[in-house]
Amino acid sequence: MAVSAGRIGLLTSGGDAPGMNAVIVGALRHAAEAGVELCLVEDGYRGLVARRTIRATLADAMHRFHRAGTWIGTSRWPDLQAPDGLAAATQGIEESGLDSLIVVGGAGSLAGARALHGVGVPVVGVPATIDNDVPGVPVTLGLDSAVNYALRVIDDVRVTATSLPHRAFLVETLGGSSGNLARAVAEAAAVDLVITPEDADAWHAVVARLPAEVEAGHGLVVTGEGVGPAQSVADDLQDATGLRIRVTVLGHGQRAASPTAADRRTGLALGRAAVDAAATRRSGVVAAPAPDAADPLAPAAFAA
Ligand code: F6P
Repeated sequence: MAVSAGRIGLLTSGGDAPGMNAVIVGALRHAAEAGVELCLVEDGYRGLVARRTIRATLADAMHRFHRAGTWIGTSRWPDLQAPDGLAAATQGIEESGLDSLIVVGGAGSLAGARALHGVGVPVVGVPATIDNDVPGVPVTLGLDSAVNYALRVIDDVRVTATSLPHRAFLVETLGGSSGNLARAVAEAAAVDLVITPEDADAWHAVVARLPAEVEAGHGLVVTGEGVGPAQSVADDLQDATGLRIRVTVLGHGQRAASPTAADRRTGLALGRAAVDAAATRRSGVVAAPAPDAADPLAPAAFAA
């Protein structure tokens, strides 16, 4: 690795995702090994504009390694997409003495990163969101932990469902306007009845099949929050089928699930890969696990 890296900044942005703290550990550890200067930016793009950079030791980061969330804070700052916001961010980068930036976040955050790259700021992305909706990235950091959290809850629902049978349950996942998280949960939980924002028509299949599932034991439906409020979906299903449907909303607890081994490993590796990319002045790339690649961390170009 060429080590004329200058000063690299790292921020986390948007909805926090389990594994973000592992990225920070991986990045700090690798920066220390490679003799690269890495500082952390608090509270995402907002903190960047306010020049809130901190120097942290690996020990500071290790204290939070096992926890979900992001200990350096995050924010949603759509202003970055507007010319004034972009100018404020580039000024923040300049005045904080940063030569390049690592952005850890989901689709919106990486769109902001792309805007910075477009005006000449060297930026490397790390796709991290439980929504798994970053174009061109098969699996985002945090998905595995969020799916495992949902599995624990669904396993529990099934305990009561099998003890006192012939009932119907609906479990709503987070996921924003994307159904990717709901589909991943349903697949891992062996649930056939799924309604997502992309496939709202699945509702008709659920109406047709739920009564037979309930008759055979119990019925379980997974929905993504983007379909609409879980209780309304359940009320409509109840009207259409005559079944009483009990609702579980996973909510923000799903985002705070303790990072799984997979998300910790991936986070560490992505932090390392992002520092490598930034230190060699690459820009407009994401460090992301690539399927079937010999090097799973080969950075892919920012998706359009
Ligand atoms: O983007 C991640 C996410 O957790 C979505 O799944 C969810 O819709 C959204 O963030 C919730 O955002 P907030 O925490 O701002 O309510």
